Amino acid sequence: MEIISTIRELQERLNTRKRENKIIGFVPTMGALHQGHIELVKRCVAENDTCVVSIFVNPTQFNDKNDLLKYPRTPDADCELLAGAGCNYVFSPSVEEMYPEPDSRQFEFGTLDKVMEGLFRPGHFNGVAQIVSKLFDAVRPDKAYFGEKDFQQLAIIREMTRKMNYPIEIIPCPIVREPDGLAMSSRNTRLNNEQRKEAVEISGILHKSKKLKEQLNVEELKQWVITSINESPGLKIEYFDVVNGYTLQSISSWEDSDSIVGCAAVFCGNVRLIDNIQYG
Ligand code: PAJ
Repeated sequence: MEIISTIRELQERLNTRKRENKIIGFVPTMGALHQGHIELVKRCVAENDTCVVSIFVNPTQFNDKNDLLKYPRTPDADCELLAGAGCNYVFSPSVEEMYPEPDSRQFEFGTLDKVMEGLFRPGHFNGVAQIVSKLFDAVRPDKAYFGEKDFQQLAIIREMTRKMNYPIEIIPCPIVREPDGLAMSSRNTRLNNEQRKEAVEISGILHKSKKLKEQLNVEELKQWVITSINESPGLKIEYFDVVNGYTLQSISSWEDSDSIVGCAAVFCGNVRLIDNIQYG
């Protein structure tokens, strides 16, 4: 496995592979890697000839400066995990390499980024689109892997790829959870022991709500989830919505779409966690 920090060097390596008609797979990350990331990497290794993983904490997607400062950085442990998973190239650029000048591009996602994360984290998805498009331009992969943990991000990336005519297949990967159900996240390391125990209720309540779907209408189920989370010690809901999995717009009846997802953002102390569940 090679660790590369400049676009030029990365492209030199990948151009050789492309000339040999090798299929390139790509997993963008912000590091602080856990098993959720590694499942994406393993799949990328299995389905491509060459696997590239980027590690870059992208400043433009952090609407909260403090969150950027506190974002965990564990480069040595990350590289060890990636080597073990069969990654070929780690692309780990500096901020100057990715943003030689400020990126003023404004992406248009219609209604996709006006809800949920887009509503509560203004500018976040524009920053994600800026960096992912720059990374796609640098790597020019055949396939790129994204987790369903960030369900709205996946929809935004799909839309960006379509709009910009990137010849890249976007591959969604299921949420990887801790044995007790908590969705894996780099932010989980910021939970203290007590908060870690409290946080498990988020996935517990989402899974329970799936069973209640037969008995409750959409509005009743939403209220049940919101009340249950807020009544759990240490948890405070920021939003919970039940949406059409393609458009991300709220639905009002279980018959509204063949893809229905419940998406939540919850504060556990001052740590903001997201999770989601497929209802159909
Ligand atoms: P990051 O949070 O590091 O996540 C990198 C990828 O891993 C994303 O596609 C995310 O959905 C996936 N992932 C994280 N936790 C997961 C879990 N528990 N199960 C399955 N997949 C999981 O998402 C980003 O970085 C950034 O926004 C990025 C796309 C790299 C752009 O900066």
